Amino acid sequence: MADQETKAQQDRIAKALSQVAADGSKFQKDPEARKELVASARELLDAAETPVESLLWHIWALPTRTVAARIAVDLKLFETATSNNGSPKTNEQFAAATGASPSLVKRITRTCASMNMLDEQGPGIYGPNALTKLLAQPQYAAGIIFCFDTTQNSFAQMPGYLRNTKFQNPESPVDGPFQFANKHNGHAFTWLTAHPEVFAAFHGYVHTLRTHRPAWTEMYPVKERLVEDLKMDASAFVDLGGGVGQTLQDFNKAVPEYTGRLVLQELGEVIGAATAMGVGEDKRIELQVHDFFTPQPIRGARAYFMRSVLHDWPDEQCRQILTHVKDAMEPGYSRILISDCVLADEKAAWQHMALDFYMMAQASSQERTETEWHVLIESCGLKIAGIYTKDQGNEGLIEVVIP
Ligand SMILES: C[S@@+](CC[C@H](N)C(=O)[O-])C[C@H]1O[C@@H](n2cnc3c(N)ncnc32)[C@H](O)[C@@H]1O
Repeated sequence: MADQETKAQQDRIAKALSQVAADGSKFQKDPEARKELVASARELLDAAETPVESLLWHIWALPTRTVAARIAVDLKLFETATSNNGSPKTNEQFAAATGASPSLVKRITRTCASMNMLDEQGPGIYGPNALTKLLAQPQYAAGIIFCFDTTQNSFAQMPGYLRNTKFQNPESPVDGPFQFANKHNGHAFTWLTAHPEVFAAFHGYVHTLRTHRPAWTEMYPVKERLVEDLKMDASAFVDLGGGVGQTLQDFNKAVPEYTGRLVLQELGEVIGAATAMGVGEDKRIELQVHDFFTPQPIRGARAYFMRSVLHDWPDEQCRQILTHVKDAMEPGYSRILISDCVLADEKAAWQHMALDFYMMAQASSQERTETEWHVLIESCGLKIAGIYTKDQGNEGLIEVVIP
């Protein structure tokens, strides 16, 4: 039996190895083939590891890596590692940057090095690798801060929370794993507005990560659907829950032919943050405090855009948001554009599944499959006119109209 298992593993490794070799040579000619190479390399790793090694990686390495990275950000380890042109540094030098104890810092640096976040160049001496250089940039470190600070408590308490509810799907945005773990009465957004440094980390990192992914304007026929037939008296492109205005700034750059109004609608605190950042100073982008659970003040807009908004809310709240927009739409002219994940019904991408778990932990909400999007949109008396996606694991663009 053991021999049979060994033989099966050897066969799997051999197959994975030849796939890596094939994808590797494809990549030499075509940089776009890198993603296939990563997928086949993951399969090789999976094949070569024993199940026990795999278990240990999951129960020891992954939680340690996450918490070590969060502490490393506080200790500025990645920034220090890249300072002075990345010259190698001792634990004492790393410790001096924040006044931390060198004996604590030693435990973090060597952990980070063992998990490829730092490059170990001698006993207790570290320099940066490519990942260190990325994490040394505040906009990427912000991802570690936001994801850890908003979610780790909820993740830790989620099994207990679900046991208490006899494993019901969390569907209340004000009474779910987040509230249970953080002893918070209210939506995660009220927690975030009370923690502006974490909210700022969110707005910083999401935009930066999106620069590495296909933009919605590359997927959707923007000129045909938004620019042609634009009526100047009904020209608004309204970004609901638009954060600090990055989508509108990007849209303005990507589609200069669009000459209609650009309106950012957000909570007061976020509009305050956008104003402080100078958004709207040139008057191209209008800032408007608007709660999307109240009637939409801009009627007959060209487009009502929502990116990573509906995935924050369970279906019932999504219906309220969508119905307010529907009431303001001009049939045959206005459209809703939803930029969110569209999960595959089968073999969903790990990025989508991880985000689905994050949404459960943060907001008792979810990512949705194509079928679930149809059910949700049609339950509001609206219709999906098209779904646009590019590559696996990215956000798609869903175009919604009044039937
Ligand atoms: C996940 S963020 C997405 C931000 C932005 N659309 C983006 O893609 O970067 C959701 C946004 O919804 C905003 N939001 C939450 N509740 C809101 C409400 N009731 N009315 C308007 N905006 C709200 C939050 O302030 C937050 O910026």
